[in-house]
Amino acid sequence: MAGMDKKNIHFVVNGDPVSALVGPEWTLLRALRDGVGLTGTKEGCGAGECGACTVLVDGTAVNSCLFPALEAEGRSVTTVEGLTQADGNLHPLQKAFIEYGAVQCGFCTPGALMSSKALLDQNPDPSAHQIKVALAGNLCRCTGYTQIVEAVQAAAAEMNGTAAAAVGNGSGAAASGAGATGAASDTALAGVTGAVDQPSHASTSGEVTA
Ligand code: FES
Ligand code: FES
Repeated sequence: MAGMDKKNIHFVVNGDPVSALVGPEWTLLRALRDGVGLTGTKEGCGAGECGACTVLVDGTAVNSCLFPALEAEGRSVTTVEGLTQADGNLHPLQKAFIEYGAVQCGFCTPGALMSSKALLDQNPDPSAHQIKVALAGNLCRCTGYTQIVEAVQAAAAEMNGTAAAAVGNGSGAAASGAGATGAASDTALAGVTGAVDQPSHASTSGEVTA
């Protein structure tokens, strides 16, 4: 039985040393969710196609549903839970996703945030095209992607100190963002922190599981 072959792996998650007892067939996604208890990272397709499970391994965005847990030994992993700062303040990307209406059901959001972080870590001032390329593996059924791209641009501007120039780039995102920070703020906040664990369309799609 696979359970007989479980091994304790030691790695760093969001700056903290952790260990997890994992089977040889476990993915990093399962190790994070079931081994470490961090459920912010989502399982969508489980096959490397949707990006919902994206985390950073030693700074590189990976699909954790494909990454063998045993290969996480000694690595440094960053999940959506690691974006929120120690004082509770949201990362600029999390704030911008809320402000620009880039969170609707929120199920894709942790993965989109982590792909966005990997991009901004390497390219602090990406073009819209570069953002689209970086997020090509992150599927979103709700937003139509425009708001996500604008949110990443806004976060980049915020982090670069050029926010005034980036906000108001002519789209309707700011208006929809205002809505997201109003009545929908609880859902949006849950989305950017990984607290959403059941997509509203899961029962009909059959592809997305919590
Ligand atoms: S759950 Fe990993 S890519 Fe879809
Ligand atoms: S907000 Fe992206 S799938 Fe719902």
